[in-house]
Amino acid sequence: MLSLGRGLSCILRTGSFPPSLPVRMVRCGGLILQSSQCKKITSNRRLMSVSSPYSHTNTDSSSSSDPFILLHSDLSSVMQEIHAELLRDLTSESELGEMSLYYFDGKGKSLRPLISLCIGHAYNLHTNRSDQEALSNQRKVALISEMIHTASLIHDDILDHAESRRGKESINLKWNIKKSTLAGDYVLGVGSKLLSSIQNPDVVQILSQVLADLVKGEFMQLQTKEEKGERFTDYLNKSFNKTASLMAYSCKANVVLSGGNKDDIENSFQYGRNIGIAFQLVDDLLDFVSSADMLGKPAAADLQLGLATAPVLFAARRFPELELLINRRFNQTGDVEKAFSLVLKSTGLDETKSLARTHCNKAVLALRDLKDSEYKAGLIHLCDKVLNRIK
Ligand code: FPP
Ligand code: MG
Repeated sequence: MLSLGRGLSCILRTGSFPPSLPVRMVRCGGLILQSSQCKKITSNRRLMSVSSPYSHTNTDSSSSSDPFILLHSDLSSVMQEIHAELLRDLTSESELGEMSLYYFDGKGKSLRPLISLCIGHAYNLHTNRSDQEALSNQRKVALISEMIHTASLIHDDILDHAESRRGKESINLKWNIKKSTLAGDYVLGVGSKLLSSIQNPDVVQILSQVLADLVKGEFMQLQTKEEKGERFTDYLNKSFNKTASLMAYSCKANVVLSGGNKDDIENSFQYGRNIGIAFQLVDDLLDFVSSADMLGKPAAADLQLGLATAPVLFAARRFPELELLINRRFNQTGDVEKAFSLVLKSTGLDETKSLARTHCNKAVLALRDLKDSEYKAGLIHLCDKVLNRIK
């Protein structure tokens, strides 16, 4: 796969920028870019904050409601507990043991466990439920959500022929495709065992749906809708399946475990659904404005994979010539570079951010009937973090 750096050097080779035109190249966030592109990316980065991956909050700048601080001790042992589950029937010296732990290295955001735990605590207070059994099962849901997520990333890296993830060599490259497929299956298998140990058929049903959705989402991504009017709906459905479903159903599972009523369960689902879609929109935006160094994986990777995400779909309304490129999944020489530059010229990035903001607002609205608590404040704060993250 081409990194953005290689992709842009490809721009120079493919003639999109004829050598006869003097093009000023500058170093921009570790990349060599055309100076106009660098300016555009830099100004787009101002849409994001630059201090930490999860940056300041516009709605509440106090760290007291920062869910990562609030749940710090809860979250600190999630990785060790996952390691313990994975190694229950294996030794860490075994190859399968080593492989299955490889992505549970504490370098991820732990966003799914955070959401699961925070919503669980918030609804436990709402329903006055504080028994150990509910807490322990909600914790299992938090672990399972991270295990499902990581298993899907392992399989995704195989499908995408990824070379890196979170700044290190991807599993499929470090080992091989066959062993990596099995390592992903193993993580999923151990997660399923943990799920059955909750001994709640509703929760099993709720979280099983995520597995079906993830596969559906990944399958949808293999195809491009020919009818351009259907593309945006298809993109949003795909985003629900591949990203938001896990967050939505983990929320639902933990509110079922807290004894929430029908409305509580539906509201928690809507919170997870909307923050999940916002997360994916920002992910797709970052693919255009963040450097590979910052992302820990190649930037502009989506175009290279043939994917037309929200920034491109919005840009195509202003530049209809993108339609042809979208339909052929950017598979001809120069397509990726042309699409990249048209997206930067369009308002596609702002519109993507604005749509993400709309979904964050809907997520916050879904919490309107929830009793006030520090955890509710944390869930609201999280929407802002998702919206303003830079990696
Ligand atoms: C990352 O997408 C991938 C996902 C969120 C889901 C992948 C799902 C599957 C491979 C289906 C199989 C599922 C299971 C549970 C085994 P991305 O490529 O946009 O993100 P990236 O840039 O981080 O790779
Ligand atoms: Mg991928």
